[in-house]
Amino acid sequence: MKKWLSEELICPECLNRNADEEIRLTVEIRQEIDDDITEGSLTCPLCGSGYHINDGIAVVVPEKSLPIIRNMTGYGSFSMSSSYLWSHYSEFLNDPDQTDAYKRWAEALTPCKGWALDIGCAVGRLTLEMTKSHDRAVGIDTSLSFIRAARKVMHQRMLEFDLILEGEITERRSGHLDTAFRFENADFIVADAMALPFRTDRFATASSVNILEKVPDPSLHLSEANRVMDKQKACFLFSDPFSWDETVSHPDLWLGGRNKGPFKGFGMDNISRMLQEGDGIFSPPFSIQETGAIQWKIRKTGNLWEHITSQFLIAKRG
Ligand SMILES: C[S@@+](CC[C@H](N)C(=O)[O-])C[C@H]1O[C@@H](n2cnc3c(N)ncnc32)[C@H](O)[C@@H]1O
Repeated sequence: MKKWLSEELICPECLNRNADEEIRLTVEIRQEIDDDITEGSLTCPLCGSGYHINDGIAVVVPEKSLPIIRNMTGYGSFSMSSSYLWSHYSEFLNDPDQTDAYKRWAEALTPCKGWALDIGCAVGRLTLEMTKSHDRAVGIDTSLSFIRAARKVMHQRMLEFDLILEGEITERRSGHLDTAFRFENADFIVADAMALPFRTDRFATASSVNILEKVPDPSLHLSEANRVMDKQKACFLFSDPFSWDETVSHPDLWLGGRNKGPFKGFGMDNISRMLQEGDGIFSPPFSIQETGAIQWKIRKTGNLWEHITSQFLIAKRG
């Protein structure tokens, strides 16, 4: 973890305190390489909770989130890292099937002073895009292997990974990245979208791209995104396919896709309403600047692709 980020983190166990009581974690550095803390720890001066930095990766999650981090299937698996590395960076592989989805999400962002937060960053493409438009960009995800892959791209400043052809058969792929990425201004940590270890109002921009339907409590995720965004002037990039899944979140917590209840109707209509209302999660309110749909794809193997339509909006306040 870069030193500049270690100085900004607060305790995810203590999030229910007032913003005035948000005290930064204390950093202990055991090993560092250039500006990167490779071995160390972070401690909360209030509750005493400790968070490790191993192999450059800081894991700053509340204790209840640790089982997700330790899960090596799904987003924690090798095959998923290979799939997402292709999906995020296929334009740099000169792949005839490439997707420009992440470039399109990034183009919707307005350049501004301040920091950007990419919530559920996976292997980091949108975070790196955000370094072109913001002073600094931070990507967070609960997948240790995604964060490891994102940090490898950031350190090597190029792409090199094993692409799955079939089963265990892989092919080494490499490519040069956009020379406009400001790698020194990006960093990635393991953190939970429902307990963000950042101070209230810290970010000028936040993104929630294809993660809402993947968290057990979608409202809590949005409420955390709102908490860390500046209350005077902020930009929110939101995108989701709204493929609600009852194995991820209870239908009573879905923010759309219901025929009855407070969130009946379509997810995008409900999120737009919540952003503009200003008396619920998003206070003060946002105004919607742009809406649309982005065709996005994930390559599972040489023969298996997932084609997804992700509905997006850009919302601004101030
Ligand atoms: C469908 S993927 C989308 C990733 C990325 N935003 C993109 O569009 O390529 C969902 C991501 O959310 C992450 N995720 C799931 N639950 C999370 C949580 N509670 N906190 C942070 N990240 C989470 C997953 O590890 C995964 O990287």
